[in-house]
Amino acid sequence: MVLLAREDDFDGWRDAARRLAGARVSPDTVLWQTADGGGDLFADPGAALPPEPAHDLRVPRAFPDLAESAILHSDPERFGLLYTLLLRLQQEPRLLEDAADPLVRRIEALAKTVRREIHKMHAFVRFREVTDDDGSRFVAWFEPDHHIVRATAGFFVRRFTSMRWSILTPELSIHWDGFTLTESAGADRAQAPAEDLGGDDALEALWVSYYRSIFNPARLKVGMMVKEMPRRYWKNLPEAQAIAPLIAGAQGREATMTAQQVAPAERPRTLGALAEEAQSCRRCPLWQGSDGVATGGCVFGEGPGDAKLMIVGEQPGDEEDRQQRAFVGPAGQLLDRALDEAQIERGTVYVTNAVKHFKFVMRGKRRLHQTPAAPEVTACRWWLDQEIGLLRPRATVMLGNTAIRGVTGKAGAVGALRGKPITLTQGTGIATYHPAYVLRVPDKDTAERAFADLVADLRVARLAADEV
Ligand code: URA
Repeated sequence: MVLLAREDDFDGWRDAARRLAGARVSPDTVLWQTADGGGDLFADPGAALPPEPAHDLRVPRAFPDLAESAILHSDPERFGLLYTLLLRLQQEPRLLEDAADPLVRRIEALAKTVRREIHKMHAFVRFREVTDDDGSRFVAWFEPDHHIVRATAGFFVRRFTSMRWSILTPELSIHWDGFTLTESAGADRAQAPAEDLGGDDALEALWVSYYRSIFNPARLKVGMMVKEMPRRYWKNLPEAQAIAPLIAGAQGREATMTAQQVAPAERPRTLGALAEEAQSCRRCPLWQGSDGVATGGCVFGEGPGDAKLMIVGEQPGDEEDRQQRAFVGPAGQLLDRALDEAQIERGTVYVTNAVKHFKFVMRGKRRLHQTPAAPEVTACRWWLDQEIGLLRPRATVMLGNTAIRGVTGKAGAVGALRGKPITLTQGTGIATYHPAYVLRVPDKDTAERAFADLVADLRVARLAADEV
């Protein structure tokens, strides 16, 4: 018997599955249970798990993503099915490509259902404002069918970084206080703010009018709308009350909009518009500067909107903040030399930073650089994600650990990741040394080696960006 800590305990499943598969334990002799699904964490597990296998198991690249999604499904058989698949993959490495295989189909269906529900949760969670002792907090109620709440938390943290919020669900509740994400037990609907759709709740009124404003009658297909917004979610959505009158009035509005050519919500967003918007960013406290000294503003990325290569640094330094341009100080000059040696023209590259305000402390009259903290990097991913979404680079160079966190959303060390290009949601990621690190290395030989490594990594990035 394998007892997992939670219904979404992917790490626990992976560890147990590797050990079991290493010892070739037959799937039908394994009973998978979860502590929060009624299993007893302190029960005698019967037989101890086999030791770590001596060799890594071989799985195709697509397997971890597939398993991570499928495991969130509420189907109690999922753990065993995935384990069976893992074992079969050892003998049949191309099994995932066999779309007719019943096991592959079943697991893909589980993963697809989960991904679709995650997408729905991103779109349909609606916050209502409540006031508690610490001021205002936004609370939402949601009823997912699968174990997706933890998996969606990062999305809401990024979207609503500067708000205090809670998402209550029957299985688990999550809370964000602006800096830390915490969990508590599941809730029931009565604990969420009352569902008063009477129209006097200012926030709901706002949602309704927002929905009206993005509603585009020219693209109205009721079937599609119902598919995108299944009826069972409607009960939590204030804007659902707006749907019937909107459908009814669609034809008239379509005529008006055709005359206006493009609905405002459809106007393409551009990097320039994003840069302007970012100037008033209040997602973290860095915009205020430090010790009563303000920053020069938000230093946004720059470069051609169709650049295939993107370079992400840490944050603007003192000189960048004065000139309001990325990588123009000493680190920027070293980067320029490295780009030159790698035969990359800086003007063809989009250069940006994980954090867009200069973080510093005052020492006398000097502003001394401070490394941004993880919540600041997380908050600023709101902008970086959008830059990536608009640019869709083929390759992204991550200069230093902060850039790795900004791009991947996870902690990572250049030392461990250098020289191993990774697959990102968008294109290939290449981690390398930050030019400021190369500048700081005290001994000449090590500095020269670090510079040569930086150049080599930039060359790899150039090739990845040029690949079709
Ligand atoms: N260091 C960075 O990470 N970015 C800059 O823009 C300048 C220095």
